[in-house]
Amino acid sequence: MTVLKEFLPKIWLLLAVFLVVSPAWAQGDAKSINPELLEKIRKSNAECFACHSEAGLKNPPLPGLDLAKLRETIRDDEVFKNSNHGKMECRQCHGQGYQAYPHAVGSKQLISPCEQCHAVQVMKAEMQFDNSVHAKNLKDKFTCSTCHDPHVALAAAKLGDPRKAAAQDNHMCLECHNSDLTFAKYAPADKKRPNIDKIHAWLPNTRLHWDAVRCVDCHTPVAKTLSHEIANKDKAERNCVTCHSTNTALATRLYRHVAKTEANTYGFANSALLNSIYVVGATRHPLLDWAMVGLVAATVAGVLGHGLVRIILAWRRNRSGR
Ligand code: HEC
Ligand code: HEC
Ligand code: HEC
Ligand code: HEC
Ligand code: HEC
Ligand code: HEC
Ligand code: HEC
Repeated sequence: MTVLKEFLPKIWLLLAVFLVVSPAWAQGDAKSINPELLEKIRKSNAECFACHSEAGLKNPPLPGLDLAKLRETIRDDEVFKNSNHGKMECRQCHGQGYQAYPHAVGSKQLISPCEQCHAVQVMKAEMQFDNSVHAKNLKDKFTCSTCHDPHVALAAAKLGDPRKAAAQDNHMCLECHNSDLTFAKYAPADKKRPNIDKIHAWLPNTRLHWDAVRCVDCHTPVAKTLSHEIANKDKAERNCVTCHSTNTALATRLYRHVAKTEANTYGFANSALLNSIYVVGATRHPLLDWAMVGLVAATVAGVLGHGLVRIILAWRRNRSGR
């Protein structure tokens, strides 16, 4: 029995590790997906795009659809294909209720949440988000997909050009902070949207700055990797030299994905600094992934084997002792 007591907690720990590692691993490296499987995925998704696209809106495959509602739900096939999730089937996230039309009532509640596949990232992001200005008053209204559109977003590392990353990330914030209508949907009833051009008037060429630098580069604490802790306005960065210097803070932020050669073309980046940055989790290598899987498998096998031998030995000892 003592053997089992010692052994069981280890199994749970390993199982937990395996559950965290396996979803990403089971999906495989998106690049190495085989063409037949990809073809199957595209076919399956085409069924949804038959309605949820510009083409579907113009030429609905069924009569009598609510076109006004459909218009609000159209997705762009090309944008989706190039996004983080572009090699997935719609139904991997929209698993229940959407196979047939009319869709089952309440299906929206069954859409897979991010944590189903990204447990670790969600935990990290949530810990930072809980300290953010949005969590204080608006926590119930904010989910990951309030900011991250899973049909559109592409990771900064893959976007390459920092201006593209700035456009994508700032779009999330501007959707609310540049629109009275959207802002009001989330804000406490008595809160009016502050005019962000006026607030940032001290920053020369404000809107041009926003093409080149992100809101989060000034509104989150400097961290080794990304941070979701959007702080109170008193803590926001207004010191020009933080960015406009050779050891710019942007090296660990917006520019962290830019390769050495490109760094010089994006202004004041210190390329030596950039080159030495390794972002855990962002820089993935297939060999490392496999080594990780191998390690977990070997550990599981080792613990199982060890446990088994001890159980057998204990059993034999008990028998011979009797
Ligand atoms: C025959 C046309 C048609 C097809 C095919 C179709 N949809 Fe829809 N879908 C609609 C229309 C129209 C709406 C607008 C709201 C409504 O009428 O239910 C909608 C609404 C939605 C919504 C809005 C959220 C909600 O439940 O209110 C989601 C999500 C959705 N569809 C996902 C899908 C997915 C995923 C597929 C493919 C598996 C798909 N749809 C296939 C016509 C279609
Ligand atoms: C990685 C998961 C994921 C994948 C893959 C995915 N979706 Fe979604 N989808 C979501 C989530 C999450 C929401 C809810 C967003 C929100 O909170 O409004 C959503 C919402 C929608 C909506 C409703 C939008 C609205 O305004 O109400 C439609 C339509 C939709 N998805 C269609 C699709 C189609 C078509 C595909 C495949 C081409 C697809 N989705 C693939 C996660 C996904
Ligand atoms: C059903 C599983 C599933 C769900 C749910 C899901 N994702 Fe993903 N996600 C994936 C897969 C698979 C990939 C591609 C991994 C790869 O290419 O290595 C991915 C990739 C990503 C990436 C890019 C990672 C990188 O470094 O390239 C981000 C960011 C991301 N997802 C965010 C989200 C967010 C935010 C949500 C919730 C709105 C979400 N995901 C929901 C399966 C999922
Ligand atoms: C207030 C808006 C907001 C919310 C809410 C939010 N995020 Fe983010 N997220 C961002 C911004 C902006 C970035 C880019 C920051 C960076 O790369 O430094 C980002 C970056 C990320 C990245 C890194 C992607 C990459 O390019 O490497 C991941 C993963 C992520 N978020 C996951 C989540 C998850 C999971 C949740 C829900 C718990 C969440 N986010 C909620 C705004 C948000
Ligand atoms: C879904 C809408 C929405 C999105 C997206 C959003 N915000 Fe907000 N934000 C709000 C609302 C509403 C408030 C007002 C909260 C309050 O006063 O209770 C706010 C408040 C703020 C504040 C003010 C804090 C203070 O000191 O008063 C800052 C700074 C901020 N947001 C930055 C950002 C940044 C940066 C992003 C993008 C990563 C972002 N927001 C995305 C809705 C949004
Ligand atoms: C160069 C740094 C910088 C950038 C980039 C930046 N901000 Fe700010 N932001 C600040 C500073 C500093 C303040 C505080 C201003 C003050 O108190 O007078 C501030 C204040 C704010 C406030 C508080 C408004 C209020 O009075 O309650 C919001 C909201 C906000 N910023 C949103 C954004 C959004 C959205 C973006 C991206 C489009 C952005 N900021 C980009 C530095 C920046
Ligand atoms: C969060 C980082 C950040 C902060 C803080 C910041 N800037 Fe910038 N600024 C940038 C970036 C990035 C660019 C674009 C550089 C490029 O494209 O080469 C830029 C561009 C500029 C330009 C235009 C230069 C050109 O090439 O046309 C001026 C002028 C400028 N900043 C002045 C300021 C002043 C003055 C302050 C302080 C009040 C300031 N900046 C604060 C990041 C920042």
